Amino acid sequence: MRDLALDLSLAHRLANAADALSMAKYRSSELVIETKPDLTPVTDADKGIEFMIRDVLSQERPLDLVIGEEFGGKEEALAPTNTKYYWVIDPIDGTKNFVRGVPTWATLIALVNSEHEVILGVVSAPALYRRWFAYKGAGAFVSENGDTPRKLSVSAVTKLDDASISYSDLIGWGDRRQKFIDLQERIWRTRGLGDFWSHMLVAEGSVDIAVEPSLALWDMAANAIIVTEAGGVFGDLNGGLGAHGPNGLSTNGKLHQAFLDAINAGK
Ligand code: IPD
Ligand code: CA
Ligand code: CA
Repeated sequence: MRDLALDLSLAHRLANAADALSMAKYRSSELVIETKPDLTPVTDADKGIEFMIRDVLSQERPLDLVIGEEFGGKEEALAPTNTKYYWVIDPIDGTKNFVRGVPTWATLIALVNSEHEVILGVVSAPALYRRWFAYKGAGAFVSENGDTPRKLSVSAVTKLDDASISYSDLIGWGDRRQKFIDLQERIWRTRGLGDFWSHMLVAEGSVDIAVEPSLALWDMAANAIIVTEAGGVFGDLNGGLGAHGPNGLSTNGKLHQAFLDAINAGK
């Protein structure tokens, strides 16, 4: 049986080291920015953080596999024959914010079992002075400014008309785009707070729905367990549950089906 408290302590150490690397480069004139083949930016901080995390994991958890945004690993970990635990790393979520000096970016670290269930997550956002974390069965927490962690729980809002929603942008919505715009006129409050932060605010109970129409596993894994352990639901826009779908929907649970019905109406 795996001791997830030990894995959490390792994930915090990885996040501490990641924070030191990212903060040294944030707003620094020495930051090196390249463009990836998919035309998105990547920095030497993204690559350095993922490299460091892989290096530590190879020493501390040599039996585990790793999937990371910058250096791959999906094929082996997601193969039907895989029987190992795997870590899922997004070294910097919100790279476009990071390179422009917007503080909404974070290192996302998750641990997944061989049944593809996310069982642990840490989201560390040092420029926001916050770190969120959870593991299965132990609840979700946030630590602000290094203070004693505060236990999180999702909101009690039950009607879409009373709900607050956060998203990233209008890119990638496809044939759901107009329905999403229509929903914004119906819902009480809408803000594009973006990236991991939308989902963490759902876990905190400050926002009721967070949605992004096109995501990868590393964008979602850590967020999913934190939202779920705070009492919410994390799934995709087709109604699937978990972090392995093509997009991400976090809710307080009570609004999950109503949002799915509204965004998929007429499909
Ligand atoms: C991005 C963020 C963002 C999402 C983009 C992702 P990155 O990740 O997760 O919320 O809308 O699709 O690419 O590239 O900054 O790690
Ligand atoms: Ca990301
Ligand atoms: Ca990234």
